[in-house]
Amino acid sequence: MKSIVIPKAGPPSILQNADKPIPEPSGSEIRIKVEAAGLNFADIMARKGLYPDAPSFPTTMGYEVAGVVDKTGPDATELLNKRVVAFTRFNSQQEYAVTPKSYTFVIPDSLSFIDAASILVVYTTAWVLIYEMGGLRKDQTVLIQNAGGSVGLAAIDIALHLGAKTIGTASGRKHDFLKSHGLHHAIDYRTENVRNRVLAITEGKGVDLIIDPIGGKEWNVNYSLLKKTGRLGMFGASSLSDLGEMNIISKAFAFLNFLFNMPKWSPLKLMDDNKGVFGVNLGHMFDMLEEYRGAIQGILDGVESGWVRPVVDSVFAFEDVGAAHQYMEDRKNTGKIILVPTKESASSWKKQA
Ligand SMILES: NC(=O)c1ccc[n+]([C@@H]2O[C@H](COP(=O)([O-])OP(=O)(O)OC[C@H]3O[C@@H](n4cnc5c(N)ncnc54)[C@H](OP(=O)(O)O)[C@@H]3O)[C@@H](O)[C@H]2O)c1
Repeated sequence: MKSIVIPKAGPPSILQNADKPIPEPSGSEIRIKVEAAGLNFADIMARKGLYPDAPSFPTTMGYEVAGVVDKTGPDATELLNKRVVAFTRFNSQQEYAVTPKSYTFVIPDSLSFIDAASILVVYTTAWVLIYEMGGLRKDQTVLIQNAGGSVGLAAIDIALHLGAKTIGTASGRKHDFLKSHGLHHAIDYRTENVRNRVLAITEGKGVDLIIDPIGGKEWNVNYSLLKKTGRLGMFGASSLSDLGEMNIISKAFAFLNFLFNMPKWSPLKLMDDNKGVFGVNLGHMFDMLEEYRGAIQGILDGVESGWVRPVVDSVFAFEDVGAAHQYMEDRKNTGKIILVPTKESASSWKKQA
């Protein structure tokens, strides 16, 4: 079977389509004939050698796939031939993927494989950030950093579903789309002073919740924008991704600078400020997925009822995976990038108006 392999750290052109044996499920595992696989920012970081959670090279990434169960272990036969979407811990950006049945969700016929694969990671991450740990409530205000990213778009859906007010940062060219998607206030973080804009929008009060995947000096700015009882949820460090292109000395210097500028919040300061900070790494929560089945099923059902609006930006064939990585790295996507096994299925996908 065809499998996307990162042989070693390098540019997008390093990616290979290798031939590997089809994996076998056992026990309560299922095997999915993959029709669509999500590309995540973590895959870019892994290819650059900057993602500590990735298996060692050569490796095949993948956190989510959709397709049909074509084989199961003896304890998962009820899922045979079902259309599903599933979480995976790597080895799924390939034609067949094996994963535990507890990570797997049956999807309705009305949900395409491509849309299904675009939902799982980003909506679950956003759900934990906004609802589970962020505790956002009706009429509260959330600042969504990187609102034009896939997690950001999912966060907008969830915040609007909860009846909250939304402020989002993104490159200016994404603002029209974000506003048409329901975002109340858009800020171009590349040309505007985010702090001043947020204070102006909130009449100097600050916000109840901030979710941030960028990191670096943004963390301190975010903290200063929380009103009392406000919470900051951190879930990425995109600002580190530029390290991949640097030589070893510049890389070390930039990393030290990143560490030096990292906030140092003490328990006493948090108490005195009445603020909360928390972190989310979905990849480290897979042992808890059973607890989240209800919420994730609710999200998948949310597509039917309309509050979950998957945004797929583009679909690339496995053999064009290098172009897909480059496209994400160039910040061209607004929404999810999906990989599909063949050029035919990539070219038959039509972007929703
Ligand atoms: N902790 C978790 O469990 C978890 C789960 C999923 C994702 N994440 C993290 O969340 C972040 C966004 O993920 P996503 O799936 O939403 O990604 P995405 O859909 O590919 O969004 C990428 C967008 O991020 C913005 N960006 C900011 N700094 C960037 C940089 N240095 N290089 C490239 N793009 C940059 C760009 O938007 P603009 O054009 O607006 O600048 C870009 O289009 C990543 O850091 C990812 O690792 C974390």
